[in-house]
Order: sequence, then C-alpha cells, then structure tokens
Amino acid sequence: MKEQLMAVKETFVEEIKRADSSDKLEEIRVRVSGKKGALTLLLRDMGKLSKEERPAVGKLANEVREAIENTLADQKERIIEMEHERQFELEAIDITLPGKKPDIGSHHPLNIVIKDLSDIFIGLGFSVEEGPEIEWAEYNFDHLNIPKDHTSRDHQDTFYVDDDKVLRTQTSPIQIRTMMKSQTPPIRILAPGRVYRSDEIDATHSPVFHQAEGLVIDENITMSDLKGTLDLFAKEMFGSDTKTKFRPHQFYFTEPSAEMDVTCFICHGKGCRVCQNTGWIEILGCGMVHPNVLEVCGIDSAKYSGFAFGMGLDRIAMIKYGISDLRLMFENDIRFLKQFR
Ligand code: DAH
Repeated sequence: MKEQLMAVKETFVEEIKRADSSDKLEEIRVRVSGKKGALTLLLRDMGKLSKEERPAVGKLANEVREAIENTLADQKERIIEMEHERQFELEAIDITLPGKKPDIGSHHPLNIVIKDLSDIFIGLGFSVEEGPEIEWAEYNFDHLNIPKDHTSRDHQDTFYVDDDKVLRTQTSPIQIRTMMKSQTPPIRILAPGRVYRSDEIDATHSPVFHQAEGLVIDENITMSDLKGTLDLFAKEMFGSDTKTKFRPHQFYFTEPSAEMDVTCFICHGKGCRVCQNTGWIEILGCGMVHPNVLEVCGIDSAKYSGFAFGMGLDRIAMIKYGISDLRLMFENDIRFLKQFR
C-alpha cells in the first residue's frame, strides 16, 4: 500500500506539473482524485488494513493527498497566468502599423458654385427658392412674354412632356411662380436649378445643365440697383479686382436688357486662352423686368419695378476650375471629383 501511495504521488505530481491548460489539469484531477480516481480508490481500501498498519499508512496517505492538492493548486495558478498572457499576445495591437485612411467625399464643383453663389446673395438679403423641373409651358414661355411663334418653343429645342408641360428650358419660370405667390413686394430671390434643352452632347453642350435665376421687385428699383448688385456679386464671386461691363442685349422678359461681362479671372484682363484674348468673360443675362411680366403675375407695374438676371452655372464652374469638358460634370468619375477637396 505504501508503495502504491508513493507511486501515485510520483506519477501524478510529475504529470500535474507538465499540464499546460486548464482542461488538461482538470482531466488529471479527475484521474487522481475524482470519484474513481487512483488516490480515491486507494483511500477507500484503507479500511482493509490492519490496526497496526493503519496509523503509518494513514499519515502517508494524508501527505500524498496534500502534496497532490497543493501541486494542483500551484499548477492551476500558473496555468491561469499563462492563459492570460497567451490571450494578451493574441489581442495585442501593433500601434506601429500604418493606419488605413478612410476615403473622404468631396463636393461636386457645381455644388461648390451654387453654395458660393447662394452665400453671396443671402448676404444681400435674398432668399433661395426652387421650382419644379416639369413646368407649365405657359410659365416657361407665355408668362415670360415670349412670343407664340418663338423658335425656342420648337420641339427641336424643348422637351415636351405633353401639350402644355415641358422640362423647363430655363430657371426664369421661377420668377413667375414667386411673383404669383407673393404679390406684395419686396421680393428678393435667387433660384438655382437644373434645366433641359434638346441639345446634342459635346464638350460644351448637354441636354441637362444648370442655371441660377435672380429677381428683385420693389418700389423705385432702377437699372443702377441692377448694376450695383451684380457688380458686387462679381467682385465677391471672382475676386475684388474684378471689373464688370454691361452690353445691351435682348430678352423678351426684360426691357431694357443687357449681358454682363467680367474681367477674366484667369488672366485678370491681360488676355488668355480662356477669354479668347479679349480680357472679358460673359457671365449672365439681365434686365429690368418687363411690365407685361409683372402684370400677368398680378403686380401693379405702375407702382413696382424690378430687375432679373440669369446665369449658366456649368460654364462658371468650368471656367473657375479649368474644366475642359462639360461631360466630366455628369460622369461621376471619382478621379475627377476627388480634385475638388
Ligand atoms: N433665361 C435666360 C436664358 O436662359 C437667362 C436670363 C436672361 C434670365 C435675362 C433673366 C434675365 O432673368 O433677366 O438664356
């Protein structure tokens, strides 16, 4: 019995010390001191010993049990520590690795132009308005004093939805909507938006493009208000050294009408490829709102007057950012868009 006890102690103490996981240790514990464990079985046989043998063997048995329990406890502690360390190693973060940069989006050049434009006119007390892209032909043409037989009404130039609805060809019908809604001036609005014309696509034409419309109506509004406002806008938009020039023009909805040129903001008036060596760039159409337009919207043209203007936003973005092909604006190529960060 003594030899058996010593043998159990030797084999199991050794085995316990070699255990390298909690599972393995538990498996050994069951084999030595579980219900049918080697030591448990030996201790159960103690009853069969003679009276004389019992004290000495009993003492040894206790020592063996203690030795095994202590070794188990020590090893358990060691394993827990080892397993923690292994876990730490597994979860370790290498802070010296280069990080992954998330791709940051950018504003579309057209939206940058619309934002800049809006900021300038909001600063002048204008509000920003919108109108529908499917518009009454009446608002797009008739109410703007455009003659019944004008070529722009032709199906070759205008997309008709049906006999009396069109895809608006200009943002000018937003003038009509605004005046009809609020017949009590003062009115000061800027209305940017998408417009449509039945054009072939090339580097400078697209069947969908963008305009912004402006309208001011109040008592005693004169051509000098128009010039002052648009000159200030040009300086804010293209640089404080920008000069403006107004050339007579003809629009049906304004009288008198003009086109406004600004000094080329690429060469500052010296002459370059962008301004075709003239030093000037044409930016917008404008004029004093025609009395017929005021009256059709229910505004008394004897009491009120006003001015309006309209500009092509794609062209402004192209010149401002040196974009050589209008199609780039609509292709959503990330390599193009990324440049406007
Ligand atoms: N709607 C005109 C166009 O598409 C631009 C324009 C010119 C708008 C003069 C105006 C204006 O409001 O007064 O060519």
